[in-house]
Amino acid sequence: MTSHTWTPESWRSKPIRQAPAYPDVAALADAEEALRRSPPLVFAGEVRSLKADLARVAKGEAFLLQGGDCAESFAEFSADTIRDTFKVLLQMAVALTFGGASPVVKVGRVAGQFAKPRSEAMETVGETSLPSYRGDIVNGSGFDATSRTPDPRRMLKAYAQSASTLNLLRAFAQGGFADLKRVHQWNLQFVAGSPQGLRYERLAQRIDEALAFMTACGISSDTVASLAQTDFYTSHEALLLPYEEALTRVDSLTGDWYDCSTHLPWIGERTRQLDGAHVAFCQGIKNPVGVKIGPTTTPDDLLRLIDALDPGNEPGRLTLISRMGADKIGGVLTTLVRTTAREGRAVVWSCDPMHGNTIKAAGGYKTRRFDRILAEVRAFFDIHRGEGTHAGGIHIEMTGKDVTECTGGAQAISEEGLSARYHTQCDPRLNGSQALELAFLLAEELKAERDMKGTALTIAAAD
Ligand code: TRP
Ligand code: MN
Repeated sequence: MTSHTWTPESWRSKPIRQAPAYPDVAALADAEEALRRSPPLVFAGEVRSLKADLARVAKGEAFLLQGGDCAESFAEFSADTIRDTFKVLLQMAVALTFGGASPVVKVGRVAGQFAKPRSEAMETVGETSLPSYRGDIVNGSGFDATSRTPDPRRMLKAYAQSASTLNLLRAFAQGGFADLKRVHQWNLQFVAGSPQGLRYERLAQRIDEALAFMTACGISSDTVASLAQTDFYTSHEALLLPYEEALTRVDSLTGDWYDCSTHLPWIGERTRQLDGAHVAFCQGIKNPVGVKIGPTTTPDDLLRLIDALDPGNEPGRLTLISRMGADKIGGVLTTLVRTTAREGRAVVWSCDPMHGNTIKAAGGYKTRRFDRILAEVRAFFDIHRGEGTHAGGIHIEMTGKDVTECTGGAQAISEEGLSARYHTQCDPRLNGSQALELAFLLAEELKAERDMKGTALTIAAAD
């Protein structure tokens, strides 16, 4: 598809997977029209600055931190939840910036992460078959016909929730909450007394010292905006194309199309067919895009996907999110990374250590072992060190809440302990303490990468 024939609805003539069957087509048209008239959620200028930040990641000069819920939900929506997740992301960012001595590009899985792909279109319980739950933007999770019927008006509710989530996040990022002098206040109550919390406190103290020194030199958050605020971007899986299409707009400055539902849309492992609707949609938007890359991907598949989504080899345009599983990552990712490096493709390689490591625990809970997650992260860094390429980023499912969804970590959550606070709408998330533990590991790995490249700054590691 050439760029001058592309339109936001080009995807409609392509084969599509994972699309809900809306029974009420008139209601669907109404909802799409209402969305088309609604203001964009993000703006082209912001999307361009994210692309420039990701270009630095592609060049090995920065690290991408992307995290949030597996799926946002209508029922769990609250300001406290958003704040607590944001706090953990700030803590992780500060550990990586200081310990890893690397700028960090901060991206939430938030303000639009509602739609979920499913392996079966229908779910059967006893004699009854109903459409599978596809996320709150599509239908309800209750097992009854009313809940499970895809309802297009849910897109408007998701839009409204995304708008108010973004409003709060913008205030947090730019309005003083993210000021480095508040570094102590991001520690969450339930984490503070734990080994991770104490380790974070020590790090925060060192940042205090550095800030005090700089203040004495005349540099403080009163005089330098970058100490007082941070850029925080949003991302979600661009799965529900009627929603994405309706929020895709022409930028008046450049005449280019941008998907203004989010800064960084990504394509899932199940919907990245070369001739499919989701790739066709993402081809025409100027946003940076991500693609999930699973263990069955061949070098040839990957190169064709890159050709389709980033024909201009533009640094920052394409982020490949590897989701292999700790057992499989070794051989597969090495070959793929070697291929992109050999072909000179300016992609960002990011690691999703969650989705390849999901298992069923004894009590029937879907879970992930924290040590398998860390093992995949370590392997990811090892592979990049071996190939001389940059381990560009991390993509995780996490929350600021004290949940018990993944086993292990310093709190040593056991399979029996999962039931205590298992709240996820979808996949098991890292809690605040586990996310912080991961951040310290990442900081060490990042520092090792820099040391190896001989570019290490003289800043000591966090601990
Ligand atoms: N603006 C810089 C950045 O975003 C420094 C900074 C300010 C920061 N607040 C932060 C870094 C919070 C991490 C976390 O990197
Ligand atoms: Mn998930």
